[in-house]
Amino acid sequence: MSARDPPISLALKITSDATLSALNNGSTLTPPLTPVTPVDPSSTTCKEQYNSRPVTPGSHAFGANNTGNSKPEDDRAVLEPLGFNYDLNIQKGPEGDFLEYGRGAWSVVYCATSRSITQSAAPPSPPLGTPPKKSILLAVKSPLRRDAHSILKTEALLLTRLSRAPRKDYHLVPFLGYISPSHSIVMSAVPLSLSAYITDKAAAARETFSTKTMFDPVLSMKGWLALAHSLTKGLDWLHNCGQIVHGDIKPQNILLKPKSNIDTSADQIFPYETLYADFTSSYDLSPAPSNSGAQPSALSALTPPFAAPELLILKSINSSTPSKASDVFSLAITLLTAATGDLLLYSGYSSMQRLAISRDGHRAVEYVRSGTHGSRIPAKGTVERVVSPALVKDPESRIDLHQWLLLIESEAAI
Ligand SMILES: Nc1ncnc2c1ncn2[C@@H]1O[C@H](COP(=O)(O)OP(=O)(O)OP(=O)(O)O)[C@@H](O)[C@H]1O
Ligand SMILES: [Mg+2]
Repeated sequence: MSARDPPISLALKITSDATLSALNNGSTLTPPLTPVTPVDPSSTTCKEQYNSRPVTPGSHAFGANNTGNSKPEDDRAVLEPLGFNYDLNIQKGPEGDFLEYGRGAWSVVYCATSRSITQSAAPPSPPLGTPPKKSILLAVKSPLRRDAHSILKTEALLLTRLSRAPRKDYHLVPFLGYISPSHSIVMSAVPLSLSAYITDKAAAARETFSTKTMFDPVLSMKGWLALAHSLTKGLDWLHNCGQIVHGDIKPQNILLKPKSNIDTSADQIFPYETLYADFTSSYDLSPAPSNSGAQPSALSALTPPFAAPELLILKSINSSTPSKASDVFSLAITLLTAATGDLLLYSGYSSMQRLAISRDGHRAVEYVRSGTHGSRIPAKGTVERVVSPALVKDPESRIDLHQWLLLIESEAAI
């Protein structure tokens, strides 16, 4: 591909102003009704939140039929993904290369803008004249291989369904639509991944390493607990509101969006919404799966050491299905990396050894404690108390998500 050709075929602009303003509304935080007493807007249950949801002219932004009468577990099948029908301009770097946010096994995520998707510039402009608009950054996920086409369409169908659910802005990557000819998914850009954040915090922790700090997570204990709380709440939302098993939870697939309101001291320490992204390995639990007929029969991607040990058994590796319990395991491993600052988890071992250790994943704390960053997980300390019940070998005996949330809240004294 020449550097001058766009990497994906561009969509045409065929939109009305009303649709555009709905699109813009949907790409920003849309908090629920202002409560009488201050509450965490992301803390109410799926049903409570849905019933109290205001119906506004733009509230159909990403689900044409999303009125106050719909059920939270929307059981209407999604037969086609929400289309993205606006212009796109893939951004280039100084060398003329297309700018990327990242890439994985199946796809590459480009940085883009659209003339149609803008945000009123702040501060407010003078009363005379039209307020200036500025483009917002978009992320465009495009296939790297032909066999990724159907995988990305399935992901777009899932994102279309999930984007109808209440409180998506607190837990889900902002999905703007799908471009069918190029099999591309368009999202608002959320340029900070949890993996980059952990890497930065690990570097800072190395600078300040001392006998006083060596027993704390690299994010600090309060920061780590705030992260754990936000991620477990998000996983509860995915499982119970979104009716979906993520299937590939790891720091690279979690994006951090700066909070619009900093209300609590925990917000000051960890001022981000944690948004789940990358649903190519997901399993649809809804009564009418959005990808009916297209559900992958095997995992599209499996990432040791984040994958639960039951998914890494050799004889079932091509047929195993992720479950709520395997997501809980992957989240616990993700939290371990946020404590040690080591994204490989078992660094110092060869890749073959790491795979063998991952199959023994329920012993993760034991292995990590004997490694370079072991001091950050003191025996019987907060991190071990929080992750251990989620790393139990038997998936049936792993801690239930609600109990896990309560455990984290009691540790954080929330
Ligand atoms: N909306 C977004 N804004 C900014 N960066 C993003 C966004 N979505 C994804 N990214 C970046 O691109 C990377 C790859 O995206 P994603 O995880 O969705 O695809 P992938 O890993 O290629 O998926 P697959 O496993 O299907 O190949 C992410 O790790 C993240 O760093
Ligand atoms: Mg990914």
